[in-house]
Amino acid sequence: MGTEHRQPVRVVVLSASLRRGSLNERLARLAEQVIQQKGATAERATMGDFDSVSFDFDVEQETGVPEPAARFRRWLEAADAFVIASPEYNASVPGALKNLIDWVSRVRPQPFNGKQGLLMSASPSMAGGNRGLWSLRIPLEHLGSRVYPDMFSLAQAHEAFGPNGSIANNVLQARFAETIGCFLELVEAATHYRSLKKQWVEFLGEKPDALTDRVELRVGAA
Ligand SMILES: Cc1cc2nc3c(=O)[nH]c(=O)nc-3n(C[C@H](O)[C@H](O)[C@H](O)COP(=O)(O)O)c2cc1C
Repeated sequence: MGTEHRQPVRVVVLSASLRRGSLNERLARLAEQVIQQKGATAERATMGDFDSVSFDFDVEQETGVPEPAARFRRWLEAADAFVIASPEYNASVPGALKNLIDWVSRVRPQPFNGKQGLLMSASPSMAGGNRGLWSLRIPLEHLGSRVYPDMFSLAQAHEAFGPNGSIANNVLQARFAETIGCFLELVEAATHYRSLKKQWVEFLGEKPDALTDRVELRVGAA
C-alpha cells in the first residue's frame, strides 16, 4: 500500500506499557507515523488509557465491565485493524494487557472477532521481546482475531532509535515500514472485499445447545 492506497483503512495502535519513557511507546509512535505515511488513518493510545481493575466475575456481575475496558472496546470496534506494541514480561504477556483482553472478551459482539492485528515488541534484550508476542497471539487468535503472521521485535531497543524517532539502522527501519505496508494491504482487502470468516465459536467442539452456545455470526454475514 503506497500513499496511493485505494480504500480507506483505519488502524488503532496500542502501546501496552504503563511506563513513562516506554520503548514500546516509542515503537508504537513510529508505527503510527508509518501507517499515516502509507495513507491509512492511525490513532494511538497507551495502556494507561485502558488499564482496568483485575478481572473478577463478581465485579462483572455487580458493576459490569469497567469503563476503561468499555472505552477500549469502543475504540477497537471503530477500527478496521489493530497494532499492539507490547513489552515482554517473563517471556510472556504483561498482566495489564492480558487483563484488558479478558475484560473485553466478555462483551458481545466480541470486538476482537474478525479483526486484523499486527504485533510488535521492543526490549533491551537480544530477542526484542519476541517470545511475549507468541504468548499474546494465543488469546487474540482464540477470540477470532486474524493475527498477521509476521511480527516485528526490536532488539536492544534502548539504543536502537535515532534522534528523529526512527530506527537508526536503515535496513531495520525499511523492514519495519515494509511489514506495516504489507499488513495494511491485507487489512484493506479484508475490510473492503468479501472475507471468508463468518463465525466465531468460543469453545470449539462444545455440544451445540442454544442455551449455552457461544457462537457469534458476523453482522452482515450471508
Ligand atoms: C517484570 C519484568 C519482566 C521482564 N521480563 C522480560 C523478558 O522476559 N524478556 C525481555 O526481553 N525483557 C524483559 N523485561 C525487560 C523489559 O523488556 C524492559 O523493561 C522494557 O523496557 C519494557 O518495555 P517498555 O520500555 O515498553 O516499558 C522485563 C521487565 C520486567 C519489569
